[in-house]
Amino acid sequence: MHLNVLVCSVFCLPYVAGLALSTSNGNTSSDVVEVGWLEGKPALNVGTTFGLPWPRGKYPDDQVTFSASTDGGENVGLQSWVTSRWADGSIKWTGHAIPGSASVPDGYKVTARKGTDGQRKRGLIEVDDAQDEIAIDTGKLKASFPKSGNVLISSLSTPSGKIVGKNGKLVLQSQSGIPDSEGSSTSAEISYYRLESKINSTTLGEDSSARTLVTIRGDHRIGDSESTATHDPWIPFTVRFYLYANSDTIRVVHTLLFDGAADKDFITGIGLRFDVPLTGEELYDRHVRIAGVDGGFLNEAVQGITGLRRDPGEAVRVAQFEGKKTPDVATWATTVSSRLQWIPAWNDYTLTQLSPDGFNLKKRTKAGQSWVKIPGGTRAGGLAYLGGATTGGLAVGLRDFWKRYPTSIDISNAATDSGQLTLWLYSPASEPMDLRPFHDGLGEDTYAKQLDALEITYEDYEGGYNTPHGIGRTNEIFIRPFDSTPTSDELAALTEFINAPPVLVPQPEYIKQTEAIGTYWDVPSNTTTVTEAAKTIESHLDFLNKFYQGQVEQRKWYGFWDYGDFMHTYDTDRHSWRYDIGGYAWDNSELSPDLFIWNYFLRTGRADVYRFAEAHVRHTSEVDVYHLGSYRGFGTRHGVQHWGDSAKQIRVSTPIYRQIFYYVSGGDERIGELLHDLMDADKTFLIVDPRRKIREDNSTAGSDPDPTAIDLDLGIDFSGLAAIWLIEWERRGPRWEEAKSKLNATMQSIAALKNGFVTGLGLYNIYTAEVSPPTSDPENRGHVDVTHLSASFGLPEIVAQITHYLGDDLPASFDRAWLDYCYYYGASAAEQTTRYGESFGKLNLRQGHSRLTAYAAKRLGNATLAARAWSEFLSTDGFAPTAPWASVPVNGSQVLAPVDEAAWISTNDFALYGLAAIENLAQVGDAL
Ligand SMILES: *[C@@H]1O[C@H](CO)[C@@H](O)[C@H](O)[C@H]1NC(C)=O
Ligand SMILES: *[C@@H]1O[C@H](CO)[C@@H](O)[C@H](O)[C@H]1NC(C)=O
Ligand SMILES: *[C@@H]1O[C@H](CO)[C@@H](O)[C@H](O)[C@H]1NC(C)=O
Ligand SMILES: *[C@@H]1O[C@H](CO)[C@@H](O)[C@H](O)[C@H]1NC(C)=O
Ligand SMILES: *[C@@H]1O[C@H](CO)[C@@H](O)[C@H](O)[C@H]1NC(C)=O
Ligand SMILES: *[C@@H]1O[C@H](CO)[C@@H](O)[C@H](O)[C@H]1NC(C)=O
Repeated sequence: MHLNVLVCSVFCLPYVAGLALSTSNGNTSSDVVEVGWLEGKPALNVGTTFGLPWPRGKYPDDQVTFSASTDGGENVGLQSWVTSRWADGSIKWTGHAIPGSASVPDGYKVTARKGTDGQRKRGLIEVDDAQDEIAIDTGKLKASFPKSGNVLISSLSTPSGKIVGKNGKLVLQSQSGIPDSEGSSTSAEISYYRLESKINSTTLGEDSSARTLVTIRGDHRIGDSESTATHDPWIPFTVRFYLYANSDTIRVVHTLLFDGAADKDFITGIGLRFDVPLTGEELYDRHVRIAGVDGGFLNEAVQGITGLRRDPGEAVRVAQFEGKKTPDVATWATTVSSRLQWIPAWNDYTLTQLSPDGFNLKKRTKAGQSWVKIPGGTRAGGLAYLGGATTGGLAVGLRDFWKRYPTSIDISNAATDSGQLTLWLYSPASEPMDLRPFHDGLGEDTYAKQLDALEITYEDYEGGYNTPHGIGRTNEIFIRPFDSTPTSDELAALTEFINAPPVLVPQPEYIKQTEAIGTYWDVPSNTTTVTEAAKTIESHLDFLNKFYQGQVEQRKWYGFWDYGDFMHTYDTDRHSWRYDIGGYAWDNSELSPDLFIWNYFLRTGRADVYRFAEAHVRHTSEVDVYHLGSYRGFGTRHGVQHWGDSAKQIRVSTPIYRQIFYYVSGGDERIGELLHDLMDADKTFLIVDPRRKIREDNSTAGSDPDPTAIDLDLGIDFSGLAAIWLIEWERRGPRWEEAKSKLNATMQSIAALKNGFVTGLGLYNIYTAEVSPPTSDPENRGHVDVTHLSASFGLPEIVAQITHYLGDDLPASFDRAWLDYCYYYGASAAEQTTRYGESFGKLNLRQGHSRLTAYAAKRLGNATLAARAWSEFLSTDGFAPTAPWASVPVNGSQVLAPVDEAAWISTNDFALYGLAAIENLAQVGDAL
């Protein structure tokens, strides 16, 4: 066997069909897997990427060829790569890219055939990787990506050779203070900075047959020509350009990290700017198109010749409005053509979306003259076009434009030879971005005071920990060159496309059968024997998903940093979520709602659930987690600001929350990078002691921790580390052997603790990943410390995955230790005492823990235990069957705006009910 896995700069595991030297083993069995569009057949196919799972052992080596055809039988040039492998090396998940196509099929059939076809696939994309820049021709557009300097895209052109975009660069502006009425900064003391992108590296993906990927990394610096105050380079960025064969649209995934100081660095604008060449185009043949509401567009010419006192002729007016070249000016009514010099040209347009509910539009003839208001609207589509009837032009759009407010779009200098189009991810018309803490510390200067404050606001505060330094945000942008001004219907279709980029997915039943992403979920049963009780649970899951999706809109959970998250607890008196109360505000993945909604998507294949989960994972993976700085690799506990709480833990950054999206998306490169980056997360224990405030023996608090004896919670910390290691291992990432060995060492040593998981805490050795008995039990006589949180951050799911992944190689003692924990958490105090010498005390979150009982019941084949699982699910805590399972409208003067309220709901219970329902149905559904 000869594996042809190339080293891949974007850290995927590329599989190149046809390079294998050995021949196939003659096994010609093949699989055909159907993939369909998540939301039905889209209007456009500009190329897309998707993921597919495969059963263990099915494709044991890389002697396999993937191909795809449309449902009509037409062959599609498929690009394929491996994103994950089973422990035995066989293929677990693959990623696939399809080229753009003029007509869009209802779906595709992907065929995996053992053996290789002996020839390397001919790519449809031309790639010229030269010393200074990478030039790409998809057949429908050409783009050049420099390898140094401040310009990310030096030129964008159409197949006919028209250059419609130049000097595409990132722009950033910020200031050193905010003139608060009572603050320390006065206007005179504030410095203002204008910066732009500076490239550090430009790299090309390995394979470019159907899709090519250009990744540019760098930071923002004061531009050469600018005369603003000096500022150190900051705001590192990674911008990924995805270009598909036969595609006219570039997808851009833009990631930035905030590495400033909250009290000194106030961002006032983050944008992407292109020059649009307009030389030679008459002002009246230049067109501005700006997406408005629900497919609406502002249709204007830089120099309008409609609505004038004199009529140039209907053909002229119609041509201009429709974006076509106007007839020769010699044919116009001379009453107009002789007076063109008196008709103002509109140089600049600005659309500002400063709230999720409204945008303004205005234009002006030039700087120094007044703006003229254009009626605005509610929610702008987020796309704009600038160009000419003959020179062609450029459309640029931001996905979720209004949901990620404050945003804006500027068109400027449209009456000059070089117009500009700027897409603002953060609008300069907004207030400066203020990431300072929302309170001054309230005098909480000791642990004792902080713990007492926790008793009232539930905020776990500590000065210095409430920093945004190191958080990130990822946006999706689309760029489309045009040979001539398109119809506005075409732009409306493009606007719809960028706001819901089409997704290809296999059927839930197929994913389930492969067992490639957990064996603890199943598709909803629809057999005739399905019980009323199961149907009721299904209806509750449906209710919960729809309710939270509706709350996003009603409670306006939108904004640059906020979109994608939801809140933790409700304030029934105010009919409002507790957005302003300490630990009750933003949820930050508390108790794994991520796993609920992603597993709910897996089992239903529902589009609304996917979109909800996608926005959520983009938020939680970036904003709630630190990507650089002291807390790198840790995430932040729930709070009023996503980064505000002083509890920094792996339980929030755990990659199990991103795993499903990563594989289903075919290996989203940004998420993939985040998964791998966590490999050093355990080193952050040397900087942050998550238990510093609550340890009984706090004599070492504040001193240098011993890297061979870090307090490790065998639940909330181990589950995160185990997920990091398993995912690195199954992806065969650069450190997979280390990951595998650390996972083994930790499992072996947890199993070696007298009480296994029931021990609660162990001492973790950062070098070997071994866990030794806690300081309270150095002799390993048996310590008992069970908390409701230990298993609430993905522990059952990651242990089940590891157990399935390792199969017979799983250390039996580890399996026993876990089954014991699953059994005894919900067992009677007497049983606990018999087994461990003492009871676990008062524990809650029993509804969520019923899924541990269900797991043990299934593994042990114990029907009594299965019944106990359902009893825990239905009649302990959490959501009772007798809960209202409905929302009620609240309106009038009691609320700011009419809302639907379900005062009985909390997000902790949302997460735990959802996960337990899914896992119990899958594991002990028969016993319901
Ligand atoms: C071919 O592959 C199938 C599925 O993995 C397997 O069951 C079968 O034993 C293989 N046959 C040969 C000849 O390798
Ligand atoms: C710049 O890129 C080089 C090589 O690609 C890398 O080693 C270095 O860390 C990068 N520097 C920054 C500031 O990102
Ligand atoms: C049950 O689900 C399967 C798979 O989704 C589907 O093919 C079948 O038609 C469904 N049966 C009923 C009775 O809804
Ligand atoms: C350590 O614990 C003791 C007793 O619980 C407490 O009085 C003391 O304030 C704690 N020290 C610190 C630094 O929190
Ligand atoms: C796992 O750890 C045990 C105990 O340290 C060791 O004997 C065994 O070889 C390890 N297994 C693997 C696969 O590394
Ligand atoms: C099954 O679980 C019950 C508790 O739910 C326990 O009493 C019983 O001993 C278990 N049976 C076996 C065979 O382990």
